[in-house]
Amino acid sequence: MNLTLKIWRQKNANDKGKLVNYPISDVSPDMSFLEMLDVLNEGLINKGDEPVEFDHDCREGICGMCSLYINGEAHGPDRGVTTCQLHMRMFKDGDTIVIEPFRATAFPVIKDLVVDRSAFDRIQHAGGFISVNTSGNTIDANAIPVNKHDADDAFSAATCIGCGACVASCKNSSAMLFVGAKVSQFALLPQGKIEATDRVLNMVKQMDEEGFGNCTNTGACEVECPKGISLENIARMNREYLKASLKG
Ligand code: SF4
Ligand code: FES
Repeated sequence: MNLTLKIWRQKNANDKGKLVNYPISDVSPDMSFLEMLDVLNEGLINKGDEPVEFDHDCREGICGMCSLYINGEAHGPDRGVTTCQLHMRMFKDGDTIVIEPFRATAFPVIKDLVVDRSAFDRIQHAGGFISVNTSGNTIDANAIPVNKHDADDAFSAATCIGCGACVASCKNSSAMLFVGAKVSQFALLPQGKIEATDRVLNMVKQMDEEGFGNCTNTGACEVECPKGISLENIARMNREYLKASLKG
């Protein structure tokens, strides 16, 4: 396939940035999207030009590092996949593909297509954990009975990889699907109930401080989430927050 790529180039956080056209030829439909960008970068390096910076790590849908906005959609036109799992067969010969970084005030651009998502780390540090006594008296997790329905919902919430597509897809740049998933995965399990009050209050406080917007139930986050995280997690977080506020 022969394609035209329109790629966001931005030297650093202060640069204004602009879309630059790159023609690319002989793209195999079996290539992943990131492999196609690797080929582009090889060509740029061979010509002595600056390669396009983009984020990636596992390249198998696990780490949540890849974060491109492709033709106006986070992780591109396929469903239930991350950018690294997107294949070029989703495009046609002659297509123009617009590639931009995730856009949100809380995710500032570092360079080209790379954004700073450390706001998610700070939200996690505020409460996305449980405290366990590891001095030798730890209770085997398998010895604690958990209702099957709750275990399944907690597991589904825990599949969130922290990619940030929910934020990038939301007109309000809301992080509530991410935070809802992180609150839910603990709130549903006995091990998470002990610190539940502080957890939800602290994580929501940090989310607000980072500059993410509010949820207005548009549902774009759920549609674009590569892991199918359900809006139910936002509702559960809101219930947890209300309970915690009344206790406080
Ligand atoms: S909720 Fe989905 S879109 Fe948002 S960070 Fe988690 S995996 Fe990514
Ligand atoms: S590179 Fe790890 S999820 Fe895409």
